[in-house]
Amino acid sequence: MRFVRQLETVTPYVAGTPIEEVLSRYGLEKAVKLASNESPLPPFPEVREVLAAGFEGLNRYPDAGCRRLREALARRFGVEPEMVAVGNGSCELLYWLSLVLLEPGTEAVMSDPTFLVYEKVVLARGAEAVKVPLKDFANDLEALAAAITPRTRIVFLTNPHNPTGAYLPAAVVAEFAAAVPGDCLLVLDEAYNEYVEREDSQGGLDLCRQRENVMVTRTFSKIYGLCGLRVGYGICSPGVREAIDKVRQPFNVNSLAQAAALKSLELEQRLDERRELNRAGRRQLYRGLEELGIGYVETESNFMLVDVRGLEVPADEVPEALMRRGIIVRPGAPLACPGYIRVSIGSAAENDLFLEELAALRG
Ligand SMILES: Cc1ncc(COP(=O)(O)O)c(C=O)c1O
Repeated sequence: MRFVRQLETVTPYVAGTPIEEVLSRYGLEKAVKLASNESPLPPFPEVREVLAAGFEGLNRYPDAGCRRLREALARRFGVEPEMVAVGNGSCELLYWLSLVLLEPGTEAVMSDPTFLVYEKVVLARGAEAVKVPLKDFANDLEALAAAITPRTRIVFLTNPHNPTGAYLPAAVVAEFAAAVPGDCLLVLDEAYNEYVEREDSQGGLDLCRQRENVMVTRTFSKIYGLCGLRVGYGICSPGVREAIDKVRQPFNVNSLAQAAALKSLELEQRLDERRELNRAGRRQLYRGLEELGIGYVETESNFMLVDVRGLEVPADEVPEALMRRGIIVRPGAPLACPGYIRVSIGSAAENDLFLEELAALRG
């Protein structure tokens, strides 16, 4: 087979190890997954009824245009439905953007480290990924702006950042957006936006309404607990949405995912409880780590980096050692954060278990 040459530069995405695999590999009865920034809570109970009702219609293709969901999102965010794109997870939107904006000879600017999917979709198009180191665990906006050239077609900015959880205030993002040339798309990936408890958390959407070259991506995968169904969305200019409509699969978002997302959005006021749970979990982990004398990076999201350099086990072996004890976390090294692990904030019981097992590795 003669695969396209650019594939030589791309490696497959390595996802968090599934619970079932850890149970069978280590002969455990129980394991806790804190590796993929998932919600410890299932979807809202009302979503179950919607899914059951949707079963009857599975012999029909889904609404190819996601009309009802797009209209609901448009109403929710005060934009036109033409400005809403829905994807099979927000990752799919990133892939489409690479299809419509990148080709060999073009560049995409991103932080290093950042969400691993950006680099993959860029390299798969034969374009160049220009990587800018973080500053104090946060996106270095000055350096990112300086990395933009006439060849840059996309700038990826994650807020809160993955894998560090650092948050950029709306005013500094707005200033940065003003420095991005009009023919280059600024993608504000806000997958964790609903966890942010700052007054300016909706600043990215304001920018979308003001600037044609800004797109916000968000997802039902995280706080809504729907990652198993795969549904995310983007708010962008009608021109960007039209472009991605040309390349996407006609039925990219399945009917159950559309219905579940729509119902979840109706229940949005209940996200406060989930934010509260996350806030309590964050405090619990901060406190627990401090008591253990283990360092961490403060987060505005539902995951955090924990410094595992001072333990009895060498830092790069900590993820495996925790896994043997039934705690699945994300190793820092493949995320370009050697010496750290990335841990999702779980339920109170899961966080306790994590702290307990980490304490055991401290010696
Ligand atoms: C920064 C960031 N963007 C996007 C995603 C993907 O979300 P989705 O499940 O909507 O594809 C993730 C998932 O972990 C993420 O961390």
